[in-house]
Amino acid sequence: MANVTVIGAQWGDEGKGKIVDWLASRADAVVRFQGGHNAGHTLVVGDQVYKLSLLPSGIVTGTLSIIGNGVVLDPWALKAEIEKLTAQGVEIDADNFAIADNCPLILPLHRDLDGLREQAAGAGKIGTTGRGIGPAYEDKVGRRAIRVCDLAHLDALDSQLDRLCAHHDALRAGFGQPPVDREALINELREIAPYVLQFAQPVWKRLNQVRKAGARILFEGAQGVLLDVDHGTYPFVTSSNTVSGTAASGSGLGPSSTGFVLGIVKAYTTRVGSGPFPTELEDEVGQRLGERGHEFGTVTGRKRRCGWFDAVLVRQSCAISGVTGIALTKVDVLDGMEKVKICTGYRLRGKVLDYFPSHAADQAEVEPIYEEMDGWAGTTAGARSWADLPAQAIKYIQRVQELIETPVALVSTSPEREDTILVRDPFVD
Ligand code: IMP
Repeated sequence: MANVTVIGAQWGDEGKGKIVDWLASRADAVVRFQGGHNAGHTLVVGDQVYKLSLLPSGIVTGTLSIIGNGVVLDPWALKAEIEKLTAQGVEIDADNFAIADNCPLILPLHRDLDGLREQAAGAGKIGTTGRGIGPAYEDKVGRRAIRVCDLAHLDALDSQLDRLCAHHDALRAGFGQPPVDREALINELREIAPYVLQFAQPVWKRLNQVRKAGARILFEGAQGVLLDVDHGTYPFVTSSNTVSGTAASGSGLGPSSTGFVLGIVKAYTTRVGSGPFPTELEDEVGQRLGERGHEFGTVTGRKRRCGWFDAVLVRQSCAISGVTGIALTKVDVLDGMEKVKICTGYRLRGKVLDYFPSHAADQAEVEPIYEEMDGWAGTTAGARSWADLPAQAIKYIQRVQELIETPVALVSTSPEREDTILVRDPFVD
């Protein structure tokens, strides 16, 4: 298995950035296959910190970086992110960066709609990142999206714009908003088109070429399995499939190419936005996890909700995504705790469940069943081998592995690339 697919196995924010960066430094190509600039990946390389939302993490190391067709692309956010990275000394050109020409665009009208809906929903809001992700995916499957390839044919866009605007004008009217300003939209597209088109190509073709040449491909997932539109905590989810299978459909390579599935798992649980969270801690323990783990959203700056590790959820994510092995992150946040808890099942109206039910009301009502373990006094931060870890921390990791029925391939012990315990190399196995 030469290729690796990285996905988040919780609600996103598992620390994918560092792991992906470490793998990207050994890959020949890195591909984003779903989501958009709602993602937030922080890479720490030496004394430089790079914050990526849309670009694949390989871009920082100069590795061929590809935005696949499964992504929704905001052209203006793309330009801003490229300019920010260029200012940090990263070189980005058509040799090391490509965008699928069949990728749907996020337009200002999508951002508007995202905001209008969230505002109107009040307490029932999803808590989206406000980037227009959901409305853009709706237009994709509604067959009215403007795609990257359309930017080369803006003079022939009339009938597509008719369809798109008819839909959005009706929705906007419902919110008391004026119709879409078609002329302003087309002018904005005309202005940004050459910038995007310099990177546009049929990336399925390029990827198949590099695959045939024996390249190592890294598929970089965004968000997490519990935010998957089918398998997540619906409707409190994102609008794409975040599971590993999307690596194939969202890039134009078949499922046999996706290789080792590495699930990124945080040693406790966090979530941003609304929705059920059985092990959430609204006490000083949750507060402490948030402070020690610096749990603030990379994209929106929102405070993340924190709780104990939920082995039921992660076992489910690993099964659904066919996870080969996990990378466990942020164990050091638990350092110094007297006791640590792991959720091993749920109680729902007198019944014990070993899985997370699909219905939103059941998801909100389940009560976690905990197993309590002793914590550890020493530190795990910066450990690079098992021998560097306190014995009780090893016990915790082993118990996690047992309960989720999936082996640990890596343990990440700090944001630094080198602070990693490697059990099984995803690129080699
Ligand atoms: P959207 O993707 O902006 O539509 O937001 C839908 C839900 O997914 C919200 O709960 C967001 O907080 C969450 N979400 C989206 N992207 C991320 C991410 O990269 N990390 C964590 N949560 C995310």
